[in-house]
Amino acid sequence: MIFIDSSKCTGCGQCTRVCPFTVLRLNQEGKAENTGKKCIACMHCAAICPADAITYDSRPAVAEKTQPLPEDCSTTVKQLIYQRRSYRRFLKKKVPGDILRAALDAAENAPSAKNEHPVRWIILESKEIRQCIMDWILEYCKENQVSMELISEYANGNNPVMGENAVIIIGICRRNSINPAQDTAIALTTAELLLQAEGIGTCWGGYLTRFLNLIPECRMVLEIPEGYEVYGTLLAGYPDRQNYRYLPARKKAEIKII
Ligand SMILES: Cc1cc2nc3c(=O)[nH]c(=O)nc-3n(C[C@H](O)[C@H](O)[C@H](O)COP(=O)(O)O)c2cc1C
Repeated sequence: MIFIDSSKCTGCGQCTRVCPFTVLRLNQEGKAENTGKKCIACMHCAAICPADAITYDSRPAVAEKTQPLPEDCSTTVKQLIYQRRSYRRFLKKKVPGDILRAALDAAENAPSAKNEHPVRWIILESKEIRQCIMDWILEYCKENQVSMELISEYANGNNPVMGENAVIIIGICRRNSINPAQDTAIALTTAELLLQAEGIGTCWGGYLTRFLNLIPECRMVLEIPEGYEVYGTLLAGYPDRQNYRYLPARKKAEIKII
């Protein structure tokens, strides 16, 4: 449960913009408030709040207040791993094709089952096709009464399926590859770190992956060949005014040594 100390809140609204499910909003006094909607505890709100006004379950929601993000946003692996966040709202600025290509080329260095490297990529830039796909997804949700939260989020101006102004990287593999899901996940994870090193923010598209496989029109418009499936998607773009001050709190790894 998120708590907001309204005496500290400056009403900047940054927490409401980074929240993936519009759990937070500004009230009539212009202060952030918790709507009580289901929260996935990403803790982006607390990590971005410039006034330290947000806590979670009365715990500090940031890893350690003494550990703000390093000012030097250089590209050591450790920094990239700790600083990576899911970004969902992007500027209209186009991500250069050569940056996308370099990240996906580099991902070919990632391990893959039997060195098969089965992933092929579709880069979805077209605004019209993105809108078509989004409309089909909303229609599918309504008809099948699934993921109904997406319909209300979308109506609220928030799109947890495709974000805002994202270029979408779609990884497809032959269904009968040896290990398509893991190979795609490793490749996308590698690519996302490299993209981040170039100042590009990303977010995994779990909803999108699922619906692209379920809706025949989506497969058709993306020209996904017979026998192939979508195993992972990444939303990418230049982040829109999102500067995290802290690392969100994360649990320690659960490890059993035998
Ligand atoms: C496999 C996978 C699927 C995800 N699907 C979505 C999605 O459909 N929409 C979304 O907004 N975020 C999605 N996310 C992002 C998570 O919500 C996010 O990683 C989590 O809240 C933690 O935030 P962080 O990535 O900034 O640390 C997904 C993440 C993963 C790994």
